Amino acid sequence: MCGIFGLISKRKDINVAQLIREGLERMEYRGYDSAGIALVNNGKIELRKKAGRIADINADGWFDKMPGQFGVGHTRWATHGPPIANNSHPHMDCTGKIALVHNGIIENYQDLRRKLTERGHKLVSETDTEVFPHLIEEFRKTGLDLKDSVIETVKLCKGAYGVVVCDADNPEYMVVARKESPLVIGITEDETTYCGSDIPAFLPLTRNAIILDDNEVAVLYPGKCEIFHVDDGEKAKREIFTVDYSMDAAQKVLDGKEYKWFMHKEMHEIPRKIIDQVRMPQEHLDEFAQAILNADHVFITAAGTAYYAAIAGKYQITKFGGPYIQGILCSELVDALPTIPPNSVLIAVSQSGETADTIEAVRYAKEQFGVKICSVVNVVGSSLTRYSDHVIITTAGPEIAVASQKAYCTQVTALSMVALKIATLTNTLTTDEIEKYESALLDTAEACALILKDEKSLINLAHKIAYKSNLYFLARGISTSAAFEGALKLKEIAYIHTEAYAAGESKHGPIALIEEGFPCVFITPPDQTYPKIIGNVMEMKSRGAMIISVVADYDVNISEISHHTIRVPIKNNKYAIAMSIVPFVLPLQMLAYFVSDYKGFDPDKPKNLAKSVTVK
Ligand code: G6P
Repeated sequence: MCGIFGLISKRKDINVAQLIREGLERMEYRGYDSAGIALVNNGKIELRKKAGRIADINADGWFDKMPGQFGVGHTRWATHGPPIANNSHPHMDCTGKIALVHNGIIENYQDLRRKLTERGHKLVSETDTEVFPHLIEEFRKTGLDLKDSVIETVKLCKGAYGVVVCDADNPEYMVVARKESPLVIGITEDETTYCGSDIPAFLPLTRNAIILDDNEVAVLYPGKCEIFHVDDGEKAKREIFTVDYSMDAAQKVLDGKEYKWFMHKEMHEIPRKIIDQVRMPQEHLDEFAQAILNADHVFITAAGTAYYAAIAGKYQITKFGGPYIQGILCSELVDALPTIPPNSVLIAVSQSGETADTIEAVRYAKEQFGVKICSVVNVVGSSLTRYSDHVIITTAGPEIAVASQKAYCTQVTALSMVALKIATLTNTLTTDEIEKYESALLDTAEACALILKDEKSLINLAHKIAYKSNLYFLARGISTSAAFEGALKLKEIAYIHTEAYAAGESKHGPIALIEEGFPCVFITPPDQTYPKIIGNVMEMKSRGAMIISVVADYDVNISEISHHTIRVPIKNNKYAIAMSIVPFVLPLQMLAYFVSDYKGFDPDKPKNLAKSVTVK
């Protein structure tokens, strides 16, 4: 949540402001209600900030024309105070010499703010962040240098932060610090140092990266940096690593075709990402599956779309001979589990690996109860990977659209691979059968490719539901995860009120709202749930509901009683049916995208949302 990008360079031939603005645009998926830049300019701070999106704010080059030698920018997702210029970052101290950007939440800011105000500081925003520069100002006045002032300040702040600080009286360096909010450093040796919330912030500029750990402070000089532990002030050693992300991720072009939105481009990447996932390194799978089998209790946790991937995975793992797995939303885990029994495993699923609630749940389980953490995560080197005992990296690559889609598909595929590995380790299935399931999982890539080829019918359906006020998404068994994901996507990018239920529950309340034309989307693969769900479809239809069903392409019965059918091209055998979670979800994600686009919304940056939710 909130994107940060800063740089300090020896080069005199660069437009620092423009480079920072471009970096911020790459971070905009983290938050986009306001933006600002502060540059150190010959002993003074040059500051510009405004509500709105970066492209609008910079329409006449407002940011790009800022003079200055180095500095930092911020794109905000408001928490404390509405998205107005005053609450936008960077924030300053009373002297106007210190500028700071922050991602995270300072939990004790009210107390700190009160004390600062009593001591005569003038705080002009409603944010938690603003206490930072004023505290730094106080430590600077005691004679401490900028780095030590930042260290003393972060010791006073409870909560989560990734901060970048520039001091107009320090033309040599800037200082960054982190705790529980991401902050990465990029280096072009002996020339330029960058800092950002995510690696893509500096990806077009350098591939040399350093990840700052919690409770560390770094001093960034042009082309080099020094890292220190907050606790004892000692220097920390850190290797530079080379990032191997493809640059294509930052563009809307795929196979020579330019897409209007990242979401559309990224959904067209799904088939190849599934293939990569199925071919992932086996040794990671082995350890992961073995850890699950060795445990007495297994839990799975995540947030948002990742949670629905987790629920699909939980069904798969149990079905293929694994233990029963309890699914708990990460934001609920601490309250739902006051104690966790010994020898437990917690599976955590996350695209970013930085979702604050997921990290909190994982740390709670690990640090208080010694729970083993198995994570399925898309971002290499993210916080989640560092708290985990076993990690499966998903092969989605950088995902720019805020609402996760290709990452979801790889998460489900990865968890299906874990399920099959468990079947192998427990001898639940013969080698021959496992091979057939694996090949069926690989075939889902082809099924997705076929679905993506036939966008027209989904576009037509999108036009039919675009102005409906409410929709239900109903399914049974493993497909309930698809119902929840389909409902979430339509809600979050097309702003239609949707609800998802296990279809059996529909008669315990939801049915009361059914009237003529009320759309009910049923996800009905030809698995063991099929006979029962026909009854649920009829219950809704006989009360006037508009039935939209997602069926196998050879389906006869449910399509006959539906007003609209979405046909999923899968083979008619148990292997294909068991592995087809993604092909049954993809059309629902596409439907949401087409509704959003048809209604003129920005599907990549839905209002009020952010991709990486680093606040609790
Ligand atoms: C946000 C994103 C979702 C994502 C969720 C969890 O809400 O918009 O797409 O599923 O966070 O994020 P994670 O990075 O943990 O998967």
